[in-house]
Amino acid sequence: MSGMQANSLSGPKGGVTGDLVHVIHPAEIPGALVKPGAEPILKATSIQKYFGSNHVLKGCSMTVFPGETITILGRSGSGKSTFLRCLNFLEEPSAGVVEIHDKRVISNPLAPRTKMVKEDIRQLRLRAGMVFQEFNLFPHLSVIRNLIEAPVHVKHMPVAQATEVAESYLEKVGLIDKRNEFPARLSGGQRQRVAIARALTMQPDVMLFDEPTSALDPSLVGEVLKVMESLAHEGRTMIVVTHEMSFAKEAADRVYYMDEGEFVEIGPPDQVLGNPHDERTRKFLSRFLNV
Ligand SMILES: Nc1ncnc2c1ncn2[C@@H]1O[C@H](COP(=O)(O)OP(=O)(O)OP(=O)(O)O)[C@@H](O)[C@H]1O
Ligand SMILES: [Mg+2]
Repeated sequence: MSGMQANSLSGPKGGVTGDLVHVIHPAEIPGALVKPGAEPILKATSIQKYFGSNHVLKGCSMTVFPGETITILGRSGSGKSTFLRCLNFLEEPSAGVVEIHDKRVISNPLAPRTKMVKEDIRQLRLRAGMVFQEFNLFPHLSVIRNLIEAPVHVKHMPVAQATEVAESYLEKVGLIDKRNEFPARLSGGQRQRVAIARALTMQPDVMLFDEPTSALDPSLVGEVLKVMESLAHEGRTMIVVTHEMSFAKEAADRVYYMDEGEFVEIGPPDQVLGNPHDERTRKFLSRFLNV
């Protein structure tokens, strides 16, 4: 089925009172690894974001089913990072609702952050692991200690159990031999693979990646993409902002093209990348042709 082009992809607009109804867009067809009848694991409904008078997100909605890999494409400044950060309230949306697994948080930036609201946001963040462009590892901690820090201190996991989980993810990203190394002694690609393992160690429902390879020397991009592709193929739920078209083509179940704070085209990678319906998507992609 083909993706959709529309200016109405934003879904219903509404206030901050939680009266927003999540609408699954017709182009949000569950990917191949999704079990029949599965409920969405993430629903973002009509996310709005203002920075002062700058209306950066104009009502973005997204539905993700368990096991899907989503990629978000768009020009610089279109709002991709802001959307991703809104999903775990690193930026509080000006309006909208985020639901991940069993936790639903309605944005209400004008209301005081009560203990309950803070706990809701903490719970949401536990369900969404984030990997940034810059690795954000603790420089004074060894690789293994970087990995067990959050499970032990945030999730109160016993050290032995956290270490076992961490080691299994270090195996997965191919860095078990760097277990006791410090970040400064790793290459950029290795550091980013540690950052991925660290996010996995929290066992989140959804992994969020914001241009995880764009700060890397081109020769190191491949090893990180390979890890991400293997995660995608083993059925992890991932939302990835990237300019790596090969990753979108190989690993994504669905591509969302963002322009000026709106998703203007949604569809499977074959369609959005191979036969974009929207003029804005087409123009963006033309830069990547013949390179
Ligand atoms: N903390 C902030 N305060 C004020 N404005 C911001 C802030 N973060 C982002 N913006 C603005 O929001 C808009 C969208 O930025 P965002 O970083 O989400 O874009 P992007 O699509 O991720 O771009 P890029 O591809 O360059 O990373 C830009 O106009 C940016 O200047
Ligand atoms: Mg960005």
